[in-house]
Amino acid sequence: MILNKVSDLIGNTPMLCISVPETNARLLLKIEKNNPGGSIKDRMARNMVLAALKSGRLKPGGVIVESSSGNTGIGLAMAAVEFGLRFIAVVDHHAAQDKIAVMKALGAEVRYVAGEYREDEVAVVERQRLAAELGGEIPGAVFMNQSDNAANAGGYSDFVRETVAQAKGNVDAYVGCVGTGGSMTGIARGLKLHNPNTVTVAVEPAGSIVFGHPGYPYYQSGTGTPAGDTVGLVLDYSCIDLGVQVTDSQAFETARYIARNMALLVGGSTGGAIFKALELIHKGVITGNVVVPIADGGEKYLHTVFNDKWLGERNLLDPDVWPQLDTWLGKAQLPDNVSTALQLSVA
Ligand SMILES: Cc1ncc(COP(=O)(O)O)c(C=O)c1O
Repeated sequence: MILNKVSDLIGNTPMLCISVPETNARLLLKIEKNNPGGSIKDRMARNMVLAALKSGRLKPGGVIVESSSGNTGIGLAMAAVEFGLRFIAVVDHHAAQDKIAVMKALGAEVRYVAGEYREDEVAVVERQRLAAELGGEIPGAVFMNQSDNAANAGGYSDFVRETVAQAKGNVDAYVGCVGTGGSMTGIARGLKLHNPNTVTVAVEPAGSIVFGHPGYPYYQSGTGTPAGDTVGLVLDYSCIDLGVQVTDSQAFETARYIARNMALLVGGSTGGAIFKALELIHKGVITGNVVVPIADGGEKYLHTVFNDKWLGERNLLDPDVWPQLDTWLGKAQLPDNVSTALQLSVA
């Protein structure tokens, strides 16, 4: 099929199946990094802009303002180009530099929040404040506010439709990260509409406050709600069966393991979702077709998650994770498994 614009490339992402030996489970990885902006967020960014234009809140030639750690910003930057809008991204130093460079390349104006922050501290509160201020001050500007924007969760209906079709109607569990909660809410609600027995698991970084645990700094990017911030209104807890935490080391070591053993570059937060999915499969909590989105690619974290020096200096290496993953994935048989069990299914 020949398409006419880049946003037509959003969605219809492939699914990669990884069987989990000695269980009845298999991971169905939905490769959302194949979206044109490189993440699952392209879906909701387009939807938020369309909703704002449709409601008249955003006028042609207007200005989008958003606080973003990167992926939403990249999606919005692409939408701004297509719809002829100006885009101002409000970021902090926690955001991956490569993501900011992409936003700039797409014509976004990038504003860093002022103030001194530790590098593992997310300045979400200040980011939100500045974005709201700019949205109020600049003529024609609209603060998208993804955390409270219903069009965020609403942007995942195609993800659900594609996933159900690819899994031939059988989605037994869904394990995804939770940041604003938009993807979790939109996807969990949609999957449960199709099959109320689908088990939904939300993974947050250890240190995030989504499920009421004590808050402290973490390095996983684009996911979780840091201490001091409030959980977004878009997150609907009633569609989540289980909320779990994953450490930075577990998440990052898993992302590195997947790269080295399966030739798939996934981002840090996705590493965490895969680690927890495998753990819960082996505990017997979930089974069958377990869908995990590859929220974004490791290409965006080459200077952090995939840099030994960076990890070592921050004490983020954990030698126990790879042997654990070897056991869960039956590493002894992996070369055979990989050739037989990895199959690409196209929607
Ligand atoms: C890297 C990364 N991790 C996790 C998430 C989940 O975020 P949210 O809860 O805002 O949908 C996203 C965005 O979808 C992301 O870009």
